Amino acid sequence: MDNFLRLGVNIDHVATIRNARGGDHPNPVRAAKMAEKFGADVITAHLREDRRHISDLDIERLIEGINVPLNLEMAATDEMLDIALRHKPHAACIVPEKREEQTTEGGLDVAGGGNHLKPYVDRLSDSGIRVSMFIEPDLAQLDAAQKLGAPVVELHVGAYCDSRQVTRTRELEKIEKAVLHAYDLGLECHAGHGLTYDTVGPVAAMGTIAELNIGHFLIGEAIFGGLESAMMRMRAAMDNARSKASA
Ligand code: PXP
Repeated sequence: MDNFLRLGVNIDHVATIRNARGGDHPNPVRAAKMAEKFGADVITAHLREDRRHISDLDIERLIEGINVPLNLEMAATDEMLDIALRHKPHAACIVPEKREEQTTEGGLDVAGGGNHLKPYVDRLSDSGIRVSMFIEPDLAQLDAAQKLGAPVVELHVGAYCDSRQVTRTRELEKIEKAVLHAYDLGLECHAGHGLTYDTVGPVAAMGTIAELNIGHFLIGEAIFGGLESAMMRMRAAMDNARSKASA
């Protein structure tokens, strides 16, 4: 299918629950394998500097244990670069990271001085890893990401997902413009952060988005009805929106 929309399942918060008690339960690699069985096209995991959820060992086991591509979310630090180059995941998504934040609170500021990111993009790309930059849906950020040579951008759609109806429409328009601009620039476009059954449709309907990365909501829903049912419902919402848009 030409404009197939991939579902990347982010398993960070399985590790959050595991880490609440130490030990090995629930195991994020087991969750990743189940997600794969239920149709995940990609597994996404963020190895944070403070290791608050995913651990180094999780990354090692994911590389060995899953058959779909691994998308490693990472800050642009030498430590993370070494880890990525050692494990060679299919993709690396460069994200901004602050220790004090609860989650990734915004995109990378590539336009406002992202030149220090260039060596990371180059080293990862040279080793065959597909690099994406997690940025706000902002045209200047897209231009800057393209100038740095990243083939992929992931749009941070948190402002849209978290906003109320009136501002939601405005935020969605920004995403639409950014998606079109990414297409014009020849960038592969992904989106993620805060997506739910309610918010995924309008984003999935944008036909040139290739991948959505969804974590917190899916893992949360899995508590109530299981991972399979949560993923099926999300997949259906994505597919319905996309097929309606292309009809
Ligand atoms: N994409 C990126 C780059 C992220 O940093 C995150 C959060 O870790 C996600 C997608 C998934 O966001 P959420 O957990 O809100 O679905």
